[in-house]
Amino acid sequence: MQRTLATPLAGRRAVITGAASGIGAAIAMAYAQAGASLVLADRNGAALQDVAATCRALGSTVHECIADVGTRSGAQAGVDACVQAFGGIDILVNNAGMLTQAKCIDLTQEMWDDMLRVDLTSVFIASQRALPHMLAQRWGRIINVASQLGIKGGADLTHYAAAKAGVIGFTKSLALEVSKDNVLVNAIAPGPITTTLVDGLSPDWKTAKAKELPLGRFGLAEEVAPIAVLLASEPGGNLFVGQTLGPNSGDVMP
Ligand code: NAI
Repeated sequence: MQRTLATPLAGRRAVITGAASGIGAAIAMAYAQAGASLVLADRNGAALQDVAATCRALGSTVHECIADVGTRSGAQAGVDACVQAFGGIDILVNNAGMLTQAKCIDLTQEMWDDMLRVDLTSVFIASQRALPHMLAQRWGRIINVASQLGIKGGADLTHYAAAKAGVIGFTKSLALEVSKDNVLVNAIAPGPITTTLVDGLSPDWKTAKAKELPLGRFGLAEEVAPIAVLLASEPGGNLFVGQTLGPNSGDVMP
């Protein structure tokens, strides 16, 4: 397939973690439409199958990888599957994430450790696994899904905000290390997006939060996914290095 404006990712081999739902699923579908070959990784195998089927129907070659990115081998599994299936990796989207809530005073060490492992350490492990391939071919794009709460903080979310601030710092620092080798590392820090991640929050909180937003509403996963396409596209993504893009309905204006 030729790379065109409609298929900017034709011939690219991409791994997307957390692809079974929400933002990751929307990125998977947008990448399939854009012409990429895909490895979709998630711990939820049943939901992953559905997203993979949709991506195949859009014309993409898709491998499913059932893995828990909270473990070292699980965080490496998507990259390994991509190298095995397609002979290399061009794009890594570190999107898998979880959300739990507790006041700092009540937060257990286990909640803290789980959050850091899934939302931050997995980003390091998967990126480190992908880098030798990207550096050797002098082309790579790493896109980390952070959160605006990594910038502004969030009450009852010290562990989540710390992990996401870590993702933003990791993104900038890795970008400084590898951009001269044409491996570009960037982050997307969404505001509130209607997905299963925020389903559990109370309707009152959601109504009040939406009123606070300059745009007056939460975003949709489909409104975030095109940013992940742009960051991996040429020439549109070529000048983004260590950036944190904010599809956040105006909640944070850095
Ligand atoms: P979601 O809950 O719809 O999707 C998350 C996906 O990650 C699920 O398919 C889940 O199975 C997978 N996942 C979770 N833990 C995993 C693990 N240990 N191993 C493998 N897969 C795992 O949530 P959403 O909203 O699509 O979240 C995607 C990313 O966007 C997350 O990193 C989240 O922190 C971030 N984000 C979401 C926002 C929102 O308002 N929805 C706002 C800001 C950031």
